[in-house]
Amino acid sequence: MKWTSTVALALLAPANALLRFPCAQLVIDRLDPLVTPGMAPSPHLHQIVGGNSFNVTMAPSKDMPTESTCTTCQVCLDFSNYWTAILYFKAKNGTYKRVPQKQNVGFDGVQGGMTVYYMQDGLYNFQQTSKVTAFKPGFRMYIGDVNARTKEQAERFRQLTFTCLQDMNTRDPQTLEFPTQPCPAGIMTAVRFPTCWDGKNLDSPDHMSHMAYPEYGTFESGGPCPASHPVRMPQLFYEVIWETKQFNNKADWPSDGTQPFVWSFGDGTGYANHGDYVFGWKDDSLQRAMDSPCYQNCPTLQTQNAAAMNACKKDRVVREEVDAWVNELPGGHMPEYIKKRWD
Ligand SMILES: *[C@@H]1O[C@H](CO)[C@@H](O)[C@H](O)[C@H]1NC(C)=O
Ligand SMILES: *[C@@H]1O[C@H](CO)[C@@H](O)[C@H](O)[C@H]1NC(C)=O
Repeated sequence: MKWTSTVALALLAPANALLRFPCAQLVIDRLDPLVTPGMAPSPHLHQIVGGNSFNVTMAPSKDMPTESTCTTCQVCLDFSNYWTAILYFKAKNGTYKRVPQKQNVGFDGVQGGMTVYYMQDGLYNFQQTSKVTAFKPGFRMYIGDVNARTKEQAERFRQLTFTCLQDMNTRDPQTLEFPTQPCPAGIMTAVRFPTCWDGKNLDSPDHMSHMAYPEYGTFESGGPCPASHPVRMPQLFYEVIWETKQFNNKADWPSDGTQPFVWSFGDGTGYANHGDYVFGWKDDSLQRAMDSPCYQNCPTLQTQNAAAMNACKKDRVVREEVDAWVNELPGGHMPEYIKKRWD
């Protein structure tokens, strides 16, 4: 009997790693060093986590692990930056309020931010036997389309989804559009990046075409990489949980039956869900972590506690109201914003 259970354990022991860790909020700011470098303010508001060398401009040659003095992520060697747009609630009287974020169960005490995953296989594959090539210094990418407003436009991207949390453990169903009913435990946004690299470019003009999705299926279903993008990378995956509880009273919702949430760039459909990533792990620490056996918590990676994560902060560059009720989204409507710039 004892022999049998040892064998069973050995078979279950992961060969490689699936990493899952929380990152606290670094800053909420109207900057986007990937899509609009040098622009302050950038067109819309973001929530950013990771190393504190995040800035208006981040040249690919920038060595984030040496320029950052701290990271908001639990893993001490990860100075990457991860960011998404911000969710707003639009009240019946036409004013807007930013929806705060909260962490996943088990990450209590970590303020705002998101949960980050690096996976070698599907989330529920406890063995993680596949090999992946970690991102290289200077690597960055973007996924999604800020202008998507139809389901067809959103379907070009696999797995950029919303989950209406009935409780903190709800994960399905996942939709491409905002939930249509109040979600008792909040709205979860999932951003899964493509996993196949062209093996050459650390970035590309649209920040996407150096990467591709598997030829068919998904990373999780084991789809192979296409010949144009043959290098299999980790599945980078963000979970952002928007705490909607103060906005869940149906009496405050539009009387025409539509839902009241809107992205910080004015999308009320949800189809323009998108995310940004700038790699910044120290040396080859990500590759080493991916090659060492662990499932979610890796004993080989040094971690910091919630207080240390929360203490890593960066001053906002664009100073504007992000907490009170406001008459328009930060940056206003895009055409007006551009007009103001050239006046
Ligand atoms: C951000 O960039 C500005 C100049 O563009 C520089 O003065 C500042 O020190 C940078 N901040 C950080 C945290 O790197
Ligand atoms: C608009 O509605 C919100 C939510 O009901 C309320 O808190 C806010 O004070 C209202 N603002 C104005 C200007 O009436």
